[in-house]
Amino acid sequence: SASSATGAALRGLNSLTSDDLAHFSKILPASSIISSLPPVKSAVAELDIYNDDWMGKYHGQSTTVLKPKTTQQVADIVKWCNEKRIGLVPQGGNTGLVGGSIPLKDELIISLANMNTVRSFDPISGILVADAGCILQSLTDYVAPHNHIMPLDLGAKGSCHIGGNVATNAGGLRLLRYGSLHGSVLGLEVVLPDGTVLDQLSTLRKDNTGYDLKQLFIGAEGTLGIITAVSILTAPMPQSSNNVILALPKFDNVQPLYKAVKSQLSEILSAFEFIDRTAYDLAVKHGQGRALSDEDIEGAECFVLVETSGGKREHDEEKLNSLLESLMEADEPLINTGVLSQNPAQFASLWALREGVTEAVSKEGKAYKYDISIPLAKFEECVNQTREHLREQGVLRPDAVTHVLGYGHVGDGNLHLNIVAKEYSDEVANALEPFVYEMVAKYRGSVSAEHGIGAMKTHALSYSKDATSIAWMKKLKALFDPNGIMNPGKVLE
Ligand code: FAD
Ligand code: MLT
Ligand code: ZN
Repeated sequence: SASSATGAALRGLNSLTSDDLAHFSKILPASSIISSLPPVKSAVAELDIYNDDWMGKYHGQSTTVLKPKTTQQVADIVKWCNEKRIGLVPQGGNTGLVGGSIPLKDELIISLANMNTVRSFDPISGILVADAGCILQSLTDYVAPHNHIMPLDLGAKGSCHIGGNVATNAGGLRLLRYGSLHGSVLGLEVVLPDGTVLDQLSTLRKDNTGYDLKQLFIGAEGTLGIITAVSILTAPMPQSSNNVILALPKFDNVQPLYKAVKSQLSEILSAFEFIDRTAYDLAVKHGQGRALSDEDIEGAECFVLVETSGGKREHDEEKLNSLLESLMEADEPLINTGVLSQNPAQFASLWALREGVTEAVSKEGKAYKYDISIPLAKFEECVNQTREHLREQGVLRPDAVTHVLGYGHVGDGNLHLNIVAKEYSDEVANALEPFVYEMVAKYRGSVSAEHGIGAMKTHALSYSKDATSIAWMKKLKALFDPNGIMNPGKVLE
C-alpha cells in the first residue's frame, strides 16, 4: 500500500527539530526560511504552496522550506541533513505532474527559487549558464535580445525552473527540432548528497574525457543530488515562424499526414503536435485559444498543429502553402481543412489550443495523467481501449470519470492519455491501474515518456525497465546517497 511504501522510503530518516532549525538559521537569513517550528514559526499558511502539487493530487506535511541563494548555502544545508539523516526534497517551480516535488511526509523542502541569476551568456556560441532557479520564461526573455531561443518550451514555462526542467529531463514542444536535454545541456553544477559540490559546469560542445557524469542527473528527479546551475546550448532565433491547425476526418490519417508533412516541409518543420476532439473541446470550453469556426471543425475527429521555423519568410510560407494545397487537392484528402495563423496573435492562439489542454483538463476536474511512449499507430486504440475498459468497470459516469482524452507529441511518439474525474478516488485509480501499465507493456512502450516517475510510478517502473536495469539504478542510488536522504521514495521505491 502507499503508506507502507512511504514507511520504507523514510526508514532511518529523522524529522526536523528546533535544533536543526537553529543550525539553518546560522546558514540562512530569516527571510529565507519558512517554518512552523520554533524558533522560526513564520507564515505557516505559506507552507501549503510548497506542500501541494500543481494538480492538487499530492499533499506533503513538511514543516520547513529553505530558500538558499548560493551554492555554498545549499551545500552547507545538505551536509547537515546527511549527518543528521534528514530527508529532503529539492523543489523548483513545483509544476511537476508525478508528485516528485512534494514530500512523502515531512521531509525538508529546499526551494531553488532564490537562486535565479544568469551567470553568463555568449551570444556567439549561444551558450547560457544560469542558476537552477531561473524560470524558463525569464531565460527565454533574457536571450531574446541576443536573437536566441531556449532549446525547450512547455506550457509551464511561466513557473518551471531550468533546474526542474533538467531534473525531469523535460521534453515539451520543441524536442522534435532541438532534441532532448541530454544533448543540449553542456554542463551542470550539483550538490551531492554528502554536501560536496560537483563542478561540471562545462561550456564546451565537445568533451570526451571519460564517463559523462552530468547525464546521470538529467532526469534523476532530484534523487542523486541538487542541481544548482545549468550550462545549456541555446539556438539561434528563427527569422520566420508559422503555424497551422489541421482538422482530420479520422485518426488513421495522422501517420500518412506526418509522413507528408515531414517530406514536404523538411528542414523548416519544428513541431507536429496532436489533440483529439475531446481535448480540443475542453481547451475551447475553458478559454484556451480562440475556437475555430464551426465549418472548420465539422466532422473533425482530431487535430494536428504544425509549426515551421526557418530563415526566410517567403520561402517558408511558400512551402507551407504548397503543402496545404497538396493536402487539400488529393483524391482522398488527409485533412478536412487547415487554419493558418495570419499574425502573431493568431499564432499564439493556435498554440494555446494545444498548450492549454493541461490547464483546461485541470479546470474541468481531477486529472489522472498517463504520459506514455507507444507506437504512433496505437495512439487512438489506446485512448479508446481505456475508455471502453472504464465503461466496463462501471466508472464512466457523471459522478466518476467524465472524460478520456489523448493529446501529445506525435513526432516524438509520446501520447498524453488523460482521464478526468470528479474526484480522486480509489475506485477510479483501481479501474485504471494496472490496466494502463499493462497496455503500455503490451506495446513495449514506456510508462513515462517525459514527466518522470516521481512518487506516482515507482511501483510501475518494472513495466518498462528490466530487473537488471533497476538493480543498477539502485546501486547507483546507494553509491551517491548511501543514507537515502535525497528525495526519498521518488523514482525508486
Ligand atoms: P518541480 O515540479 O519543482 O520538480 C520536479 C522534479 O524535479 C522533482 O522530483 C524535484 O525534486 C526535482 N527538482 C526540481 N528542481 C531541482 C533541482 N534544482 N535539482 C534537483 N532536482 C530538482 N513536462 C514535460 O516534460 N513536457 C511538457 O510539455 C510539459 N508541459 C507541462 C505543462 C504544464 C501546464 C504543467 C503544469 C507541467 C508540464 N510539464 C511538462 C511537467 C513539468 O512542468 C516539467 O516536468 C518541469 O520540467 C518541472 O519543472 P519544475 O521547476 O516545476 O520542477
Ligand atoms: C503537455 O504536453 O501538454 C504536457 O506534457 C502537460 C500534460 O501532459 O498535460
Ligand atoms: Zn507533454
